[in-house]
Amino acid sequence: MEKSIANRLRRRVRAAALRSRVPYSDHPRAALALMSDGRWMCGVRIENASYPLVIPALSAVLASANSIGRQDITALVFSDSVKLEEKTMLQQSFAGPMEQLADDILGHSGSINEPGDELITGRHFPDELDTATGIRLARKATQHAYTPESDFPVGALVVTRDQTCYQGVNVEHGDWTQMLCAERAAIAAAVGAGETNIQYIYVSCPKAPATATPCGACRQVLCEIAPEAILCMDRGEQTAECFRTSELLPMAFSL
Ligand code: THU
Repeated sequence: MEKSIANRLRRRVRAAALRSRVPYSDHPRAALALMSDGRWMCGVRIENASYPLVIPALSAVLASANSIGRQDITALVFSDSVKLEEKTMLQQSFAGPMEQLADDILGHSGSINEPGDELITGRHFPDELDTATGIRLARKATQHAYTPESDFPVGALVVTRDQTCYQGVNVEHGDWTQMLCAERAAIAAAVGAGETNIQYIYVSCPKAPATATPCGACRQVLCEIAPEAILCMDRGEQTAECFRTSELLPMAFSL
């Protein structure tokens, strides 16, 4: 990779690292995914008081890319040196193994394009998004879910105060401990793009519309990142069911 391209990407990923949520370790980290068309997106480390629920920067950017159907990652740039566990995780993900191009860069050297100025970000809606639209978009997102193990696609849509939407889906990984549910994938996309004010989360599980609810791990993360947000479950033909995220986890653990 050309030095000037690498340095431009490094500046971006280091700026993104400032958006990490690292109240416990104070070790910011970000990963930038460069796509085949030169567009790029970032994932940041998102910590939780329940330590095993930390979302690593690499998981965040892979889930965010996959959730919008972008699997054409040509390089990954980290805010500091690549870790061994990141290479291992990558091998079993849709992005597959990559060459080490520098201490902090992995990629497919032949196919790296000049990065553009454009960050892939959420979709902005000028008008207030109603529940029916939120549910429709969460349902639509499930088309990107990858569920060879469970055959249980889930779609989620996070909406910020300024009406920007970020979608998330469940992407199953060879190592189950590395995967993110749809809700956490959508949170990772929003936080990676610098959002701090999440107002709504819409969730759709088309295979169990009447009974589905967010899992405990997602509740813990939602409570920490967006305790005041309203979560609405798609109930298929029935009216959506909505809860405040803090209500979903009574007596929540906090440090
Ligand atoms: N799943 C979610 O995406 N969200 C939840 O809240 C519960 C479960 C996913 C994880 C796994 O891919 C599949 O659904 C079955 O558990």
